[in-house]
Amino acid sequence: MVKVLVTGGAGFIGSNFVRYALGAHPDWHVTTLDKLTYCGRLENLRDVMDSPRHTFVKGDIADAVVSAPLVQAADIVVHFAAETHVDRSLQSAGEFIHTDVFGTFVLLEAARQAPRLRRFIQVSTDEVYGSVPTGASRETDELRPRNPYSASKAGADRLAYSYFATYQVPVVVTRASNNYGPYQFPEKVIPLFITNALEDQPLPLYGDGLNVRDWLHVDDHCRAVDLILEKGVAGEVYNIGGGNEVPNVDLTKRILDLVGKPETLIRPVADRLGHDRRYALDTAKLRALGWDPVHVFADGLAATVEWYRANPWWWGPIKHQDPAFQAYYQQQYAARTAGQP
Ligand code: NAD
Ligand code: DAU
Repeated sequence: MVKVLVTGGAGFIGSNFVRYALGAHPDWHVTTLDKLTYCGRLENLRDVMDSPRHTFVKGDIADAVVSAPLVQAADIVVHFAAETHVDRSLQSAGEFIHTDVFGTFVLLEAARQAPRLRRFIQVSTDEVYGSVPTGASRETDELRPRNPYSASKAGADRLAYSYFATYQVPVVVTRASNNYGPYQFPEKVIPLFITNALEDQPLPLYGDGLNVRDWLHVDDHCRAVDLILEKGVAGEVYNIGGGNEVPNVDLTKRILDLVGKPETLIRPVADRLGHDRRYALDTAKLRALGWDPVHVFADGLAATVEWYRANPWWWGPIKHQDPAFQAYYQQQYAARTAGQP
């Protein structure tokens, strides 16, 4: 059995990856290490929790007592665990430094003494390039992160590389664009807007709504990571972009159309501080390995809307019964919407 450690496997992309990996690789045993923070949920893994090829461990990656033995027993580490929401990093950056930077350091230290380890995938993000007014970021471009989340991810990205350059830890860095699909926590724009629309609640659109994101279906992301595990070169960086650049206002209108609700639900609100205008990735390097996204954005978005429509058991309790989420929503949006019609 190939022993695979997935950190953050109870989150959005991590849980999709665990499910994908168990299906695609009958010879893999996957251990999920997850702290189960506000967005890490065992419900995301409910269909694989009983698999004899999956083990769940609750723990903090920054706690070497728990995480180091798991890294040292692994053939492959796919490191997704992170604090991930830009808006939360603007309110409280400490957890981002703890997990994204220090937690990554703890895993990398363990990886120096991991006899079986043949790949350590550092899951980074397109946000490390900063805002890209024109063109598309290449892997060799300068990193110019502009918010505490992306700065912490850039720190981890380069720290991981340093453990390759210095200690020959077999690190490969991936930088993906904005993911969408099932099991995404309803603080991120697509699930927030879908679930708000389903409940006839306003859709709080930041600033002029013309910021652009490049949308990547989470399944395409999982396939890319798998291919990079197989064909990627240690010490290298690979961009993973969906090739679907959409201004937020257009995305919002598409969601309303798919849910069947009027555009009057759009509520322009105060902008995000330091809001990156646009991300765009050049994916030639990954495509040369043989990857192409298979999901057409219009179809993938429609399927995602249907997933949230069909699974209120998953998101309803977060939005309506979780006091922490309600406090977050109030803090994040009350001031923004004050004085708005
Ligand atoms: P998410 O917030 O949905 O999940 C993060 C997971 O990490 C949760 O299960 C959480 O419990 C866990 N976690 C947090 N701190 C931890 C700790 N200290 N120890 C162990 N587990 C911890 O995130 P996501 O959107 O699935 O993102 C996964 C990774 O992909 C992150 O590294 C993120 O930076 C990166 N990424 C995300 C996107 C995107 O669009 N979502 C795009 C590019 C890169
Ligand atoms: O680009 C990759 C990154 O994508 C990942 O590294 C991050 O982990 C992930 O959270 C995501 O970051 P964004 O900030 O781009 O995603 P978010 O869903 O928060 O916002 C997407 C766009 O929508 C952004 O321009 C801000 C806007 N937005 C967001 C929210 C939550 C709104 O207009 N209103 C909102 O309420």
